[in-house]
Amino acid sequence: ERPKVWVSQPLFDDIVARLHDHFDVVQVPEVSEHGPAAIATALREVDGALVTLNERVGAAEIAAAAKLRAVCNVGVGYNNLDVPALRARGIVATNTPDVLTDTTADFGFALMMAAARRVTEAERHLRAGQWQGWNFKGLLGADLHGSTLGILGMGRIGQGIARRASGFDMRVLYHNRSRLPADIERACKAEYVDFDTLFAQVDHLVLVLPYSAANHHIVDAAALAKMRPTATLTNIARGGIVDEAALADALANGRLASAALDVFEGEPAVDPRLLALDNIVLTPHIASGSLATRRAMVELAVDNLIAALGAGPDAGNPPTPISTAKDAKRPGT
Ligand code: GLV
Ligand code: GLV
Repeated sequence: ERPKVWVSQPLFDDIVARLHDHFDVVQVPEVSEHGPAAIATALREVDGALVTLNERVGAAEIAAAAKLRAVCNVGVGYNNLDVPALRARGIVATNTPDVLTDTTADFGFALMMAAARRVTEAERHLRAGQWQGWNFKGLLGADLHGSTLGILGMGRIGQGIARRASGFDMRVLYHNRSRLPADIERACKAEYVDFDTLFAQVDHLVLVLPYSAANHHIVDAAALAKMRPTATLTNIARGGIVDEAALADALANGRLASAALDVFEGEPAVDPRLLALDNIVLTPHIASGSLATRRAMVELAVDNLIAALGAGPDAGNPPTPISTAKDAKRPGT
């Protein structure tokens, strides 16, 4: 009997088709919100699952899934998975690192530039018919070139952002759970600093650290208060890292120049205090969203599922198992 797998959302049919060579595939036909009961029911029936970050696979769902042997996330972040609970059951958990690094780093840069130069605010101004001719002192922003960039979370994506920054003649400071080897620091032209120094000394701060309970709201009112009032903050990691109420307060009261968020704590809901601000760029979690990269993420997740369930000739490729050491601790502690 062929193993059975669940595909939680429509992805790219031509890529997912490879699963049909090995498995009986239960494909969810439309973009769907799956609550805990639906996820438990789906997982109970299958040997493996391809899920996205919208599907929360928690301890209760895992406990009910007697046959489950693999959960393959389409995404690099995996805070939607209870990895210790999966591991305790010997279930393979995988994610899709590397294939999205450069696309996501590109977008982090785009958001940082948009926040610094007020791109979306300026566009709203123009579209609202408020442009009355070249305005010498209107919509003035901050430079990226020659400024100091801060990166919180120096994984693959953080390093990609650092490499881009050298083309803009930026000085790069970073903070991470653990300091990078000297050769990587040199390649990224990045200097390690402690958390407080990072917040205090940079002109543009980008958050790229994995989310874990220990990182919840580490960017809180106290951290924001350390930042320069002329600085920008960009978050392409996970919404829960930032205390959004404190951020809205800092932006509204001139204690931070501008921000750019691609992720939100309650997404797809966005805090109305953020929506009310002009000095913020808001995008709907699209940092890895180039067509080529989203396809590559699905290819990798499909490879992972085939390998994890030991099926077919592709089984020779080892899956990319999640390494939980990465999100075990708050960075720098
Ligand atoms: C997207 O946020 C991802 O983690 O891949
Ligand atoms: C993961 O967080 C990465 O930076 O690739």
